[in-house]
Amino acid sequence: MPSRQRTARKTSQPVTAVEFKSAMRQVVSPVAVIAAQKGNTRAGLTATAVCSATADPPTILVCINRSSRAESMITGSGAFSVNFLHEGQSGIARLFSMPKLDSDARFAEGVWTRGVTGSPLLQGAISAFDCQVIETVPCGTHSIFLGRVVAVGSAEASPLLYRDGFFQRLAMG
Ligand SMILES: Cc1cc2nc3c(=O)[nH]c(=O)nc-3n(C[C@H](O)[C@H](O)[C@H](O)COP(=O)(O)O)c2cc1C
Repeated sequence: MPSRQRTARKTSQPVTAVEFKSAMRQVVSPVAVIAAQKGNTRAGLTATAVCSATADPPTILVCINRSSRAESMITGSGAFSVNFLHEGQSGIARLFSMPKLDSDARFAEGVWTRGVTGSPLLQGAISAFDCQVIETVPCGTHSIFLGRVVAVGSAEASPLLYRDGFFQRLAMG
């Protein structure tokens, strides 16, 4: 049972960003690091706006703020990786969401290799997807990238989750 019942208000007023964010805070999301590389330069950020778009052909959707360094790296390289984190990797999630922290400091934690597309892949991630950009859709402050999955890997582990401003673990049972 919900602890506090809230209903959608009936009004012709547009929904504000504050109201939208407040409702989204209640949603549980898996946490991923999206990464891209061009030449010797790499960039990445922590993201929850990630989902499977279609399995046939295998395609992933990510929403990336245009002001982030990763957005221009994905646009420049035409590729990105999606690395879903396990519950022991909240430190990596914090590093990749720390504003102004340079890429070398972000990639200092964890073991990173390069995928088929050249994008950085995190060893030991719960699931890692190496993707070629097939479509970019501008949407407000963000770019929505659709990525065709060209390589994939996964490991048995419990996921890192995010809800209401905190990293959380999956409670079993
Ligand atoms: C839990 C969490 C989820 C996030 N999800 C997204 C996301 O889906 N897309 C996005 O563009 N930024 C997202 N961010 C914000 C970026 O990780 C953050 O702004 C990062 O510093 C951007 O990289 P930059 O400093 O290189 O610009 C999220 C941050 C956190 C903590």
